[in-house]
Amino acid sequence: MTEANDPQVDWLNTVAHDLKTPINSVRGCIELVQQLGSLNERQQHFADKALNGLQRMEHLVARLLDISWLDAGMALELAECDLAAVIREVVEMLRDSAEQRSIRIHMQLDDHLGLIQADPQRLVQVMDNLISNGIKYNRDGGQVWIQAQRETDRVVVRVRDSGMGISPEDQPRVFERFFRSREGVALKIEGSGLGLAISRAIVHKHGGHIWLESTPGQGTTFSFSLPLEISEGGETMVEAQQSAGEAADSREDYALAVSSEEHDAVDDAIQEQREMSRVEPAGSDEP
Ligand SMILES: Nc1ncnc2c1ncn2[C@@H]1O[C@H](COP(=O)(O)OP(=O)(O)OP(=O)(O)O)[C@@H](O)[C@H]1O
Ligand SMILES: [Mg+2]
Repeated sequence: MTEANDPQVDWLNTVAHDLKTPINSVRGCIELVQQLGSLNERQQHFADKALNGLQRMEHLVARLLDISWLDAGMALELAECDLAAVIREVVEMLRDSAEQRSIRIHMQLDDHLGLIQADPQRLVQVMDNLISNGIKYNRDGGQVWIQAQRETDRVVVRVRDSGMGISPEDQPRVFERFFRSREGVALKIEGSGLGLAISRAIVHKHGGHIWLESTPGQGTTFSFSLPLEISEGGETMVEAQQSAGEAADSREDYALAVSSEEHDAVDDAIQEQREMSRVEPAGSDEP
C-alpha cells in the first residue's frame, strides 16, 4: 500500500481538519464572553488560560496536518524563491516573542543570495521552527544569530543561539518525532517534539541536508543546505524509505505522547481551580 492511500494517513488528516472547527468555535465563545462585560481578575485569569490551551491545540493540529502531508507523500510546490525574503518574514513574525524575553535576533544575509528553486511556504516552516527553538530554548536576554550564504551550487543557512544547548546523548535524537530533551520538559517549555522532524523532512524533500552542533550550557547551531536547483521529486529513495519507517514507528508513540501531555495540562488547571476556589469552613480544624 502506498503512503498516499494509507487509511491511517487519511484518518489523521480528517481528524486534524475536524478539530479546527470546534477549536474555532470555542475561541469565538471565550472572546464573546470577554466582550460581554468586564471580567474580574480570576475570570480573566481562566479565560486567558483557556485561550492559551487553545493556542497549544492549534499548534498541535497544524503539526498533525504537516505530518499527514509528509506521510501522504505530497509534492512540494516549487517556485523561484527569495530565501532572504523568507528569512526576514519569519524574523518579523517572531520578533515580539523574542522581545518579550529580551532576546536579540541578528541577521547576516549574503547580498548575493539570489533566488533558489524551492517551496516558500515549507521553508517558512523550517525557519519558523529553527528560530522559535533558538528563542524558546534560550535564556532571557540571550541572542540568536541567523546567517545565510551562497556557495557554488547551494545555499547554507545557520541559526545559532546562546541557549541551554543539547547534551551529546540527545543530539542524535532531536530529529526523531516526539523527542523532547529532559531539560526542556523539566523547564516546562512548551513543544510537541515534531518541529525538527518536519523540518528535516522538508529539507530532505528539497534534496538538502540539516545538521547541528551544540555545547551544553553555551548554545546550539542548526544548519541546513539547499541545492540551488532540485531534481524532480527532490527526496532520494533512501530518505523516502527512512521517513516511511519513522512514520510507522512513531504512530503509537504519538498517541502516548499527546494523551499524557494534554492530561497533565488539564490536571494542572483543575488542581489550580480547586486551590483557588477552596473556602476554608469557619473554625476548621484542617491543617
Ligand atoms: N535550539 C535548541 N536548543 C536546545 N534544545 C533544542 C533546540 N532545538 C531543539 N531542541 C530540543 O530538541 C527537541 C525537539 O525540537 P522540536 O523543534 O522538534 O520540538 P519542540 O520545539 O519541542 O516542539 P515543536 O517544534 O513541535 O513545537 C526540543 O524539545 C528540545 O528538547
Ligand atoms: Mg520546535
